[in-house]
Amino acid sequence: MQHIEARAGAVLHIDLQAVRDNYRLLRNRLGTAVCGAAVKADAYGLGAERVALALYAEGCRHFFVAHLEEGIALRPHLQQAAQIIVMHGSPVGCEADFLAYQCTPVLNSLPQIRAWQRLAQQEQRALPAIVQIDTGMARMGLSAAEVAQLKQDSSMLDGIAVSHVMSHLACAEDQANPMNRQQLDQFRLLRQLFPGAKGSLANSSGIFLGPDFHFDLARPGAALYGVAPVAGQANPMKAVAYLQGRIIQTREIPANTSVGYGATWRSTRVSRIATVAVGYADGWLRSLSNCGVAHIAGQAAPMVGKVSMDTITLDVTGVAEADLYPGALVDLISATNTVDQIAEKAGTIGYEILTSLGARYQRHYMNDATAAGTWAGQAAGNTNQEEFTPALMGSQGVSA
Ligand SMILES: Cc1ncc(COP(=O)(O)O)c(C=O)c1O
Repeated sequence: MQHIEARAGAVLHIDLQAVRDNYRLLRNRLGTAVCGAAVKADAYGLGAERVALALYAEGCRHFFVAHLEEGIALRPHLQQAAQIIVMHGSPVGCEADFLAYQCTPVLNSLPQIRAWQRLAQQEQRALPAIVQIDTGMARMGLSAAEVAQLKQDSSMLDGIAVSHVMSHLACAEDQANPMNRQQLDQFRLLRQLFPGAKGSLANSSGIFLGPDFHFDLARPGAALYGVAPVAGQANPMKAVAYLQGRIIQTREIPANTSVGYGATWRSTRVSRIATVAVGYADGWLRSLSNCGVAHIAGQAAPMVGKVSMDTITLDVTGVAEADLYPGALVDLISATNTVDQIAEKAGTIGYEILTSLGARYQRHYMNDATAAGTWAGQAAGNTNQEEFTPALMGSQGVSA
């Protein structure tokens, strides 16, 4: 059983079995297409190494990172069979590092193609790569004009073994958006210029747009980590991240007393305030000031006042006194207060809530079949009130 440190100000529980279950759900939707995984940004804040190992155990072999450094950090933890694909491609002059660290670049521009070709010439062998084409994001990848240039002079790709052509969807979570079909058409058109290369278009939401969008390889990220893939529909993904913050102290305040910076909240009655050791330095966004709710032993407590750097304050007037001791853990992200719900209150997206998760949290990986402990074992011995409460777990779609 992994002990939750009494001195940790907050505990982030990461359910690796839920990541695996989410991967399986996405893979089943894909049919014959292969399911990769976006593990960039430290697997959306949840820990690239542990998440990638769990996904590898589930059969994932294509791992997408953004930066070369992320790929280099991940490489020693994954077996040879795992392909690490760097979506930003090579920083100028760092091409040889891709060979040294067994990473595959995405080639996004003609200069990146030329540099990769130069390395292939030096190495006197064909080097693998994925080519990205821009179909509507105007962010990364070759433009239609640049693809035409490649068609005119196909020697520009000599020495490059293009395994896949990829592109990225701008509006995939909005299924009714006509841009999805426009990008699909453009992708189909432009990829013809890379005969023999496989296709990769779908992120999480793209998988839910249907088989036309699947091609050969999907690159889901957010849905693996529990974020809802389709706007306005029940979330079929399992929640992965649970956050608990610790009460530092409580106090009673009279009516008409302000709380926090800027005195933005004022009590309307005699109130009890609990101060919790999570703040904006931990990724609890300041835009969550005076909104949102926490749960203490299942009882709702509104967040009041501004989010400080290291603390938030809760109105716990309605919470049983016995549950308000210093050191008690308060549920901040839970099955009843999901990443997507919190994001909506903060005026952002679940992606930003996850990737902001703080470095000060004690991280507690649950259900890690690749390590000694299992959730079943933890649950069986769960007599300590500092252990995580399984009642708060569940599918977001069911309990949200
Ligand atoms: C090029 C690319 N592919 C795949 C993904 C994964 O997308 P999602 O997290 O929406 O599944 C991203 C994420 O931003 C991306 O930029």
